[in-house]
Amino acid sequence: MKVFVTRPIPENGINILRQKFEVVVGNSDVLTHEELKERVKGFDALVTLLTDKIDNEILEAAGPQLKIVANYAVGFDNFDVAAAKSKNVYLTNTPGVLTEAVAEHAFALILAVGRRVVESDKYVRDGQYKQWEPMLLLGKQLWQKTIGIVGLGRIGSYVAQISTGFRMKIVYYDVKRNAEFETSYAAKYMELDEVLKQADFVSIHVPLMDSTKHLIGEDQLKLMKKEAILINTSRGPVIDEKALIKALQEKNIAGAGLDVFEFEPTLTAGLIDLDNVVLTPHTASATQEAREAMSEIVAKNVIEALEGRQPPNIVT
Ligand code: GLV
Ligand code: GLV
Repeated sequence: MKVFVTRPIPENGINILRQKFEVVVGNSDVLTHEELKERVKGFDALVTLLTDKIDNEILEAAGPQLKIVANYAVGFDNFDVAAAKSKNVYLTNTPGVLTEAVAEHAFALILAVGRRVVESDKYVRDGQYKQWEPMLLLGKQLWQKTIGIVGLGRIGSYVAQISTGFRMKIVYYDVKRNAEFETSYAAKYMELDEVLKQADFVSIHVPLMDSTKHLIGEDQLKLMKKEAILINTSRGPVIDEKALIKALQEKNIAGAGLDVFEFEPTLTAGLIDLDNVVLTPHTASATQEAREAMSEIVAKNVIEALEGRQPPNIVT
């Protein structure tokens, strides 16, 4: 049987697959939809990335022998889930193994924006550091501040857990309440608007769905404190980026840390001119450990499906 991996991923998973199947790995360029349609023909399994849009046309183009599309990501907004269901093709993701990496990156951004790390680095490199100053580059302390978690899945929960180390207070919003979590971390559940009003740091951890697109828009940004910092390591379109830029320009909020962008890799005009933002190129899960674990999970799912068993990480 044949497996097509659309672009290179860490070798460990590919090597596992090569022991059982014929594996073809694409090059590092993102394939256009047309190119993808051409390339997938005749494969039994596809390993895809979040840069590959998997819809009915791709599934048709692959052919009726296709059994599984294994996404090398926890998010799967690049999948047309209904189309795959109607064709009895398994769709899988890589949950669990990147939770800590993404949550740690959310904190990297919280600290980078709060303590103005990028601005400070530039200040030193530009040769501006001449003498110690009592009021130079003052930032925000985390201790006893309130963190607002929007989306309490695996990643949001671990961000909350980390925040207790900084002695932060936790408020959260999710479509579901989690009583056990509330007890364990002295966390308070509240509606989204209330989280936005109370939090000093807001960190977004929801998947991208119709119901979460522009979850944070102009009206929501207006509810936030002027001193608040907004962090997004989930999916870009959850925030209305134009509205965010306006809020940052007008200092309606103090700063933002963004790992994902509404039209990535394109940035909305004005974003890079702002000093009060820190930007990373969708690298929240980019640790050696997480990316290798994702590769192994992808291989596991493909093996199970191609050997006629149910893969462990089916998405719904
Ligand atoms: C990365 O964004 C992922 O969904 O794994
Ligand atoms: C994703 O892994 C989540 O549940 O937060």
